[in-house]
Amino acid sequence: MKKRTILPRLLLATGLVLTGFTAQADEVKGNAAAANAKVWLCVGCHSIPEYRADYPLVYKVPMIGGQNAAYIASALAAYKKGERKHPTMRAIAGSLSDQDMADLGEYYAAQTASSPKNPLK
Ligand code: HEC
Repeated sequence: MKKRTILPRLLLATGLVLTGFTAQADEVKGNAAAANAKVWLCVGCHSIPEYRADYPLVYKVPMIGGQNAAYIASALAAYKKGERKHPTMRAIAGSLSDQDMADLGEYYAAQTASSPKNPLK
């Protein structure tokens, strides 16, 4: 008797999980506050005015505070996919999920170009 009811339940549960997953993949909403736990990966380079990264120190690190959130998320996705080639940014973006990228986009969008520090703490 019990065995008969398990399969439909399992299918239903799987269906719900898949539906939830697809819905999330379609539209990932960024949360700036959630990025507080991730932004330590970025501040060492992006928060230092005039900072240049990589030997022989040719790459000027862009100031991304105040940039559009969707632009930041899509730039990170492009590094992750390899469409953008910068090696350090590729390595960093490779460790980020879609949710991380959306959160970081909102985080930096909430800053201004001259925000020296995290404005959300
Ligand atoms: C080791 C230094 C370093 C770290 C750490 C770093 N970045 Fe970068 N980032 C750079 C450099 C250098 C560039 C410019 C690369 C290029 O020319 O494509 C860049 C480019 C970018 C761009 C593209 C900006 C634009 O105007 O198109 C974004 C967005 C970005 N970084 C976000 C981040 C985020 C978010 C993090 C943390 C998860 C991070 N970076 C960590 C050095 C760094």
